[in-house]
Amino acid sequence: MELHLAPLENVSCWAFRSLYTGASDSYTGMLSLTNLTKRATTWEEVDTFPIEGQRQWIQIATAKETECATFLTKLEEELQKHPEKDTIYGIQLNCSCPSPQLIRLGQGPALIKRTTKVGKLLRELLKQTKYKIGIKVRLGLNEYEVAQRKIITLCRELEKLAHENANFTNVTIHFKHAQEPSSKAYSYSLLNEIASFKIPLIINGGITNEKDIQRVLAHIEPANRKNIKGIMIGREAMKNPNCFLEMNQEAKSQNQETRIIKNEFKALCAQHQPKQIYLTTIAEKTKPGLFL
Ligand SMILES: Cc1cc2nc3c(=O)[nH]c(=O)nc-3n(C[C@H](O)[C@H](O)[C@H](O)COP(=O)(O)O)c2cc1C
Repeated sequence: MELHLAPLENVSCWAFRSLYTGASDSYTGMLSLTNLTKRATTWEEVDTFPIEGQRQWIQIATAKETECATFLTKLEEELQKHPEKDTIYGIQLNCSCPSPQLIRLGQGPALIKRTTKVGKLLRELLKQTKYKIGIKVRLGLNEYEVAQRKIITLCRELEKLAHENANFTNVTIHFKHAQEPSSKAYSYSLLNEIASFKIPLIINGGITNEKDIQRVLAHIEPANRKNIKGIMIGREAMKNPNCFLEMNQEAKSQNQETRIIKNEFKALCAQHQPKQIYLTTIAEKTKPGLFL
């Protein structure tokens, strides 16, 4: 089972991601392709310096195929200038961020109902073969779209894409619609049906430990479980940087020492200093003294 550290905007800089021993995959926070294609400074946030044992993804937001094509060209230019960042495993399209500003631009969860558009964006990204491609999506933009089963229609398109192209390797589903507050309990009632599609599924939402994984998997009939590639954790990781280590027996047996996260984080920041916004957000959103 793959263990993914969730993309966390203005939090998941290289130093932060590097703390998560035992995670198989990690992501940058969401990066706007409009910014990446127009502003040189945004490339500082593509901080994909090596992290042992982790496959690193860049998460992008866009609704334009032309931006995808320009981004792929600029990415190669950036990596030629900074070969030390040339460790990227994949690119994930964000169809999940609930920001009204993003939705107004037709990006993020506004794309869930636009099956053809999502297919075109992903096919544009799949024109290259160096990077795996994935998508992070919610159950719908709102309650109405959940009732309309928009996610099921999208899964049908994603299944076609997975069949067409082996580089499409990651469909992460955050099991909420975009208007549900983070405090609301998760409903996994659609999980079994979603898992019946032949798509490489990563389950996200409300998972904190091994017991939660088993509780979520119990929604899936045994025949559909083969489509589950992994799980993704966000908020619990911000509380417990050992959460993946605790689930990954192999990593756990190799890392028995008590960790002082704050000291590790300081040393990592000294290697690759994140932008100030990352430090401010980490200080605001995590327990005082844990990271900073
Ligand atoms: C501080 C914060 C920042 C987030 N930033 C992003 C982001 O950039 N891209 C994204 O797809 N999801 C983002 N999310 C959502 C998480 O990736 C994840 O889907 C959500 O927290 C549910 O998982 P969890 O229950 O394990 O926390 C963010 C969540 C938090 C708490």
